[in-house]
Amino acid sequence: MKTVVLGGGLSPERDVSLSSSSLIANALLRKGHKVALVDLYDGIEDDKISLETLFREGTSDEYTYKVPENEPDLEKIIADHGGRREWVGPRVLEICKMADSVFLGLHGSHGENGQVQAVLDSAGVKYTGCNYLGCAIAMDKDLSKALIAGAGYRTAKWMTRPYDKITVGKVMEELGVPCVVKPIGCGSSCGVSVVKKEEELQAALDYAASFKQLILVEAFITGREITIGVLDGEALPIIEIRPHEGFYDYKNKYQAGLTDHLCPAPIDEEHTKRAQKLAEKFFTILRMDSYGRIDMFYDEALDDFWFIEANNLPGMTDTSLVPEAAGAAGIKYDDLVERIALSARSGE
Ligand SMILES: Nc1ncnc2c1ncn2[C@@H]1O[C@H](COP(=O)(O)OP(=O)(O)O)[C@@H](O)[C@H]1O
Ligand SMILES: [Mg+2]
Repeated sequence: MKTVVLGGGLSPERDVSLSSSSLIANALLRKGHKVALVDLYDGIEDDKISLETLFREGTSDEYTYKVPENEPDLEKIIADHGGRREWVGPRVLEICKMADSVFLGLHGSHGENGQVQAVLDSAGVKYTGCNYLGCAIAMDKDLSKALIAGAGYRTAKWMTRPYDKITVGKVMEELGVPCVVKPIGCGSSCGVSVVKKEEELQAALDYAASFKQLILVEAFITGREITIGVLDGEALPIIEIRPHEGFYDYKNKYQAGLTDHLCPAPIDEEHTKRAQKLAEKFFTILRMDSYGRIDMFYDEALDDFWFIEANNLPGMTDTSLVPEAAGAAGIKYDDLVERIALSARSGE
């Protein structure tokens, strides 16, 4: 099978994505597929290159990518490409059409919000992960909470406002503290703050506003944080997340040793089944398909679960949460990657 692994793109998570994409590409090479790793933004600028030669085969020529220490400077990358803001690079669609399918290794807005999926749909290209609508809904924390709440499930009370209209006074009036402030459509905890005191609220609003999206503020939930991968509509073993300090922020997510992952989570069978059923239900309500991950909290006092948010292109490095949960279910990384690759389909 011929696969294009699409990574990179113009998102703050482009480096993380190129790293996941290399691992995905190598897993597919080990499985005997022909693979070309393509950067969604860079594309293939040299029109003399034969696209066919970009497909690799065998394991002697694996991809390597090391995430640089600093976040990418997107404006510099744009400047290096002659100021081009068009985010689908030259010849990207052309090479995607040459493959049997596209494995989406993208993270962040262009990739997770449904736009890339819609572009691929329009070209009749098969791709992995959720359809464009599921992506658009899951990437919008306000819309997804509204659908989950509307279906009668628990999600923390929340308010959503334009980033330049939200004030400390309004938040105190509607929600108070403790609360959690976040941009509606980021990932990796970018822009997220847990606010315990009113004095901390302005800084949290300013930080979220720097992402220039709608801001969502929700009540702080006390409980055990869990995340549940869903593969082909079925929940994987639950992972409990226990940061040593604070909440599951960017640092606690990506720096080794700062957070314990317990998989399968030390939760009894009855509660495990309940949580897994809920994750499957949320997946359906949000119109997700293929695979994804649902973040939730277990509230012991209420003996119930809270929906936090959904992820439609969750991290796919070999140590990311979905591969870890799949591992606990006996699915090895390479098998997981191949299974996802084989499930690629076109939304037409
Ligand atoms: N309502 C909440 N109550 C308590 N902690 C929360 C709440 N919402 C988010 N968090 C914490 O913030 C982290 C990031 O928030 P999340 O909505 O999952 O954003 P992201 O898309 O960046 O992962 C969560 O993993 C959790 O630790
Ligand atoms: Mg999350």
